[in-house]
Amino acid sequence: MSAERAPSELNEQEAKDELAHLAGVLGKANTEYHTDDAPRYSDADYDKLKRRNAEIESLFPELKRPDSPSDQVGAPVSAAFSKIEHKVRMLSLGNAFTDEDVIEFAARVRKYLGLRENDPIAFTAEPKIDGLSLSLRYENGTLIQAATRGDGQVGENVTANARTISDIPHFIKDAPKVLEVRGEVYMSHADFDALNAAQDSKGAKTFANPRNAAAGSLRQINAEITKQRPLLFFAYAWGDLSEPLAETQFGAIERLSAFGFSTNPLTRRHETVETLIEHYREIETQRATLGYDIDGVVYKVDDLTLQSRLGFRSTTPRWAIAHKFPAELAFTSLEAIEIQVGRTGALSPVARLKPVTVGGVVVSNATLHNADYIAGRDSKGEPIRDGRDLRVNDWVEIYRAGDVIPKVRDVDTSKRGPDSTPYEFPKTCPECGSDVVREDGDSVAYCSGGLICPAQAVEKLKHFVSRAAFDIDGLGAKQIEMFFDDEALPIKEPADIFTLQARDAANPIAKLKNRTGFGETSVNNLFDAINTKRKIPLNRLIFALGIRHVGETSGAMLARHYGSWDGFFTAMQYAAGKSGPAWDQLNDIDGVGSVMATALVDAFHTPNTRDAIERLVAELDVQDVAAPDTSGSKVAGKTVVFTGTLEKMTRAEAKARAESLGAKVSGSVSAKTDLVVAGPGAGSKAKKAESLGIELISEDDWLALITS
Ligand code: IVH
Repeated sequence: MSAERAPSELNEQEAKDELAHLAGVLGKANTEYHTDDAPRYSDADYDKLKRRNAEIESLFPELKRPDSPSDQVGAPVSAAFSKIEHKVRMLSLGNAFTDEDVIEFAARVRKYLGLRENDPIAFTAEPKIDGLSLSLRYENGTLIQAATRGDGQVGENVTANARTISDIPHFIKDAPKVLEVRGEVYMSHADFDALNAAQDSKGAKTFANPRNAAAGSLRQINAEITKQRPLLFFAYAWGDLSEPLAETQFGAIERLSAFGFSTNPLTRRHETVETLIEHYREIETQRATLGYDIDGVVYKVDDLTLQSRLGFRSTTPRWAIAHKFPAELAFTSLEAIEIQVGRTGALSPVARLKPVTVGGVVVSNATLHNADYIAGRDSKGEPIRDGRDLRVNDWVEIYRAGDVIPKVRDVDTSKRGPDSTPYEFPKTCPECGSDVVREDGDSVAYCSGGLICPAQAVEKLKHFVSRAAFDIDGLGAKQIEMFFDDEALPIKEPADIFTLQARDAANPIAKLKNRTGFGETSVNNLFDAINTKRKIPLNRLIFALGIRHVGETSGAMLARHYGSWDGFFTAMQYAAGKSGPAWDQLNDIDGVGSVMATALVDAFHTPNTRDAIERLVAELDVQDVAAPDTSGSKVAGKTVVFTGTLEKMTRAEAKARAESLGAKVSGSVSAKTDLVVAGPGAGSKAKKAESLGIELISEDDWLALITS
């Protein structure tokens, strides 16, 4: 699929294929959203697909399909409800995503009506409620029918369900003989939370967001269930009418309000595009405190005579447009800053937010990265957010893109109270009270407590049993948390995993097999799984130790270099002073920089960490890494130096190959050097080799030597 390419780059066949694909995808998405109340795409992603479809159609109008998604509103009705044909079609709205789109909309309206630039024209602006639309038919003041939008032409008969909604009057006074009131059924945040909590405690399905909850609640076969659901209704439009409601949109809304309907209190009337957009911004900042979801602002031409002159395109009115909020942005209040301590002791600040729906997902936490990020600086000390810092109780803008962890994008400092104070990053670990240290040039602060810090200990254990490390069947993150706090059979450090069976056997009372969730078989399986992992390859063990900066690849490189646990452990002791041959050798290993070397040596020199490692290794049978087969190698045991530019391979590759053939690669030329491989531009090292009488060869000679 050419989804990543600009529509203008598509040829006719590709455009045709993609339109067919999009018709399928969007058709399915429509059914999931409207009929099943279980959308797979976020609103933003859905809009993106729909826009792409429209763009391709505008470039290849002759390829527009009869079942084009551009001509569809909603989805066909569910077979569970009887059908109602709408006397006046229930339409959708065109979308504006930028201020420019709104300016263009106003210009299009003027042009269509033949107005000049300075001729006045008024628009209403009101929140776009994120619920589902409903049409209510009153005859002689009595509610006789309620229908969902369906496909715009035919909707579902939900009359009994609608009658249970407290906001919907059953009778209205002084109304036209025929009156169809249209509006949005929605659920407030508070009611949504309570409903989900109740569903959860019953073991029933919970809803992804308030819109789904509202749709699922209204479209119940049994209206008794709808009655128990706290649904609300805002009226904002009308369908069939026996006489006009008013001369203006604003006046018509006032009438609906007088009939007893709830209408949105943020509805305004403006005469310029600038003031419309100002109102949009105001509504956007209030979004999180409204207590219900909105996804944009709807602008409508106020004069109803002009509305009828403007009329409709296939599925949208020319006289209205929805100015959507960027789906992944929302404002909310930063209620607290909490610090999480990871397995390496890194302190990660997390924002606790007043829950807000961002692109269909309720967000209540966001990452704050590190102390600098909170203070308004990046890792280089440059200002971010123009240097604005983040404080508890600030009004912040949240950003969420796809599945990425939500971030705090900006802060509205004008909403700061007089008592607001800058956030102070903790100087001691919130989990264990140890000092927090932050090295120069490092953006991350660390707890210095090591294994005495319970947060680090438990996260380290989870890492220890993870897939790429010990990978013990039946002992995952959940079980680690349980055992960590277990009083009779605690697992506080890796060695405890391997003594669990013996401790269980020695404990006459608190036997594991008698616990809930454990039976004799599962306990035996667990012990077997643990015992099979006593035999462990050196690379896995090194990685499993969870030393800062030592990942799976570096674990393997260290293992290959040192070959055995004893070789590795002894070298770490010798490197302790951070100078001397053992230290140099460690730094010389491909892929090990001074940062990782320091972390390794420090880990083996922190007494409680080293003791824990020794207790663990005493339980294990660590498998050596087979030394590379260097028989037949002409360079085995030789010390080689590479200098100058290598043209056939990178330095790293040359070094790795030399080492795999049993050579030792060094960075500097000395009396111990056996061979210098010099490429173009070789300077002082080549000269030194010459002066010491060391063999000097070209890259090609080297290749011939190792491949012959
Ligand atoms: S006016 C002819 N006003 O948005 C169009 N619609 O994307 C009449 N919606 O189907 C619709 N809030 O379900 C209008 N204040 C509002 C709205 C609103 C939410 C929904 C409605 C419509 C959809 C279009």
